[in-house]
Amino acid sequence: MYKHIGILTGGGDAPGLNAAIRAIVRTAVGEFGMTCVGIEDSFEGILGDTHTVTLTTKSVSGILPRGGTILGTRNRGSFVKIVNGQPIYSELPIGEALANLDILGIEALIVLGGEGTLGIAEQFHKRGFPVIGVPKTIDNDLAATELTFGFMTAIDIATEALDRLHTTAASHDRVMVLEVMGRNTGWIALHAGLAGSADIILIPEIPFSFESVIRKVQVREKSGSRFTNVVVAEGAMEVGKSPMYQDQEAIRLGGVGVNVSRRIQELTGKESRCVVLGHLQRGGTPNAFDRMLGTNFGACAVRALVSGETGKMVALQAGEIVTVPLREACTNIKTVSVDGQLVRTALDIGISFAAPKESKLSDN
Ligand code: F6P
Repeated sequence: MYKHIGILTGGGDAPGLNAAIRAIVRTAVGEFGMTCVGIEDSFEGILGDTHTVTLTTKSVSGILPRGGTILGTRNRGSFVKIVNGQPIYSELPIGEALANLDILGIEALIVLGGEGTLGIAEQFHKRGFPVIGVPKTIDNDLAATELTFGFMTAIDIATEALDRLHTTAASHDRVMVLEVMGRNTGWIALHAGLAGSADIILIPEIPFSFESVIRKVQVREKSGSRFTNVVVAEGAMEVGKSPMYQDQEAIRLGGVGVNVSRRIQELTGKESRCVVLGHLQRGGTPNAFDRMLGTNFGACAVRALVSGETGKMVALQAGEIVTVPLREACTNIKTVSVDGQLVRTALDIGISFAAPKESKLSDN
């Protein structure tokens, strides 16, 4: 049994991280008599002059409802470079980190992160260091788990934004476009669009045509609804085009909302405004579900370590927490199924995905 374990958080923060950290510490210390150390700023905290913090049941008291992560996080760093979309891991920092873990007396790691962070965690496992992963991301794009914490809170925030945009859109007879996060998947846009009564949902899995966007706006206008609410995932793209990025290195998605809004105004003559929800979706207190899921994942991750598992990630499958190989977690991205029930339901209730008219998903 391990006596001293390390905990770190990597990637973009997500509501529920502190709930998971608290559960890990309470389980490891209270149930199994271990000691815990928090590694700050993701894996960067075990390079150079290491920065760590002792975690006790007292020091994690009161953090359950707090947003962000008390350990700090990084979503870029020294361990991995993306070349042509593929992760390349550098040997040097991994070697240094392993030596530092030894000096710090850390015998095993619990790593909380998304696909990128868990990919680095797997490198430690491959070199014989015991690791258990805990999935987090507001994007909910990890195939190995039905849900990640952070997602439900992000949907709540995006839904509230849509509700608020609804009343101002209706008052001004405008088109309001809300750009939400989600990387290359449309989970946040689809869920919030359904919950927040969007008229058009644009997601990466269903490339859209402006002709169909405009048609929907005009059909609504003719039927007396002189406003339209659009929710667009940051990774959504026009048919035959690529997603839009904010920077030259093609790392940060963004810009599609403004583009959609501008084109709607040009093509319909209707006033249109864009709101980019951005990091509001990640900040602040987790909702009850994410606190619960983070807590359950955290406690189960410690139990997995204690039962001798390594190179695994805790995951939610059919309502139960199970463990799956880290490999599965970092290689398979879960995208919205265009034949799935939620897309069908959205079409049934009159939401448009603005698919081109020859597509089976067209709402014409
Ligand atoms: O993966 C979480 C996420 O919020 C994505 O939805 C988004 O594309 C990205 O992180 C934003 O990253 P950053 O915080 O570096 O702007």
